[in-house]
Amino acid sequence: MAYETINVDVQDHVCLIKLHRPEALNALNAALVSELCTALEEADASDKVRCIVLTGSEKAFAAGADIKEMSEMSFTDVYTNNLFAQVNDRIVAIRKPIIAAVAGYALGGGCELAMLCDFVIAAETAKFGQPEINLGVVAGIGGTQRLTRFVGKSKSMDMNLTGRFMGAEEAERAGLVSRVVPAKKLIEEAMGAAHKIGEKSLLTAMAVKETVNRSYELPLSEGMLFERRVFHSMFATEDQKEGMAAFLEKREAQFRDK
Ligand code: HXC
Repeated sequence: MAYETINVDVQDHVCLIKLHRPEALNALNAALVSELCTALEEADASDKVRCIVLTGSEKAFAAGADIKEMSEMSFTDVYTNNLFAQVNDRIVAIRKPIIAAVAGYALGGGCELAMLCDFVIAAETAKFGQPEINLGVVAGIGGTQRLTRFVGKSKSMDMNLTGRFMGAEEAERAGLVSRVVPAKKLIEEAMGAAHKIGEKSLLTAMAVKETVNRSYELPLSEGMLFERRVFHSMFATEDQKEGMAAFLEKREAQFRDK
């Protein structure tokens, strides 16, 4: 499918989606959000894809929701259309792992988009922020909710109230990103991680994603129960038999996603 605001490339079972609105630092307008959700859903459904990498440009992962597009909207417009609810729900519904590879600005909706991915690999140039307060609004796709769970109340309040940006090192220290790499190595590192995930059983990788994500929704005792149930259910799979047999036979596992 041809897209105008993103580029999509599938190689060796990894789908690389690159946001591409250079004239607006990849600001999330309606077209980009719609194309991105469609591309993610296509990758999720495709037999050729085992892991997804989402990235932007060297200067910006995404500088937020498109301010030009939003500026004249009324409460009635955004409430009736449930602005940005769909992007959250459609990305949350993706079952294959998604890695965000972030260089440059990840602000507002851009930071929230990175947090909607399963983990974030950052270039040393990455800058995260929730500067919505400067525009007279609060964050709308998780900037007050997911960010608080990632970095704690104090840093989240700091970022949401002052609008200051957090560099890659601070973001890694705070738990917002999993790794920081030189900008030149960003895509290589993210693709390497994606290929590593792609070598596993897809069935197991999807179960891991689902199980970790439950930790955001459930109290510990219910989360532990969910994890145990999924863990037990994996013993019904061929890949569990293969994975454990391969270990005992000192060979590489040949997973069949079954
Ligand atoms: C629309 C944007 C944009 C945005 C940048 N541009 N961010 N257009 N929406 N969010 C455009 C600029 O208008 C400009 O276009 C071009 O991209 C380059 O940007 P500059 O500002 O000239 O670049 P620079 O001086 O390097 O500054 C980079 C920047 C700054 C610090 C990232 O652009 C900035 O502060 N952007 C806004 C960041 C922000 O507030 N994000 C939160 C958005 S609200 P022209 O045509 O002038 O060249 C949000 C809400 C989410 O995300 C929740 C939804 C409910």
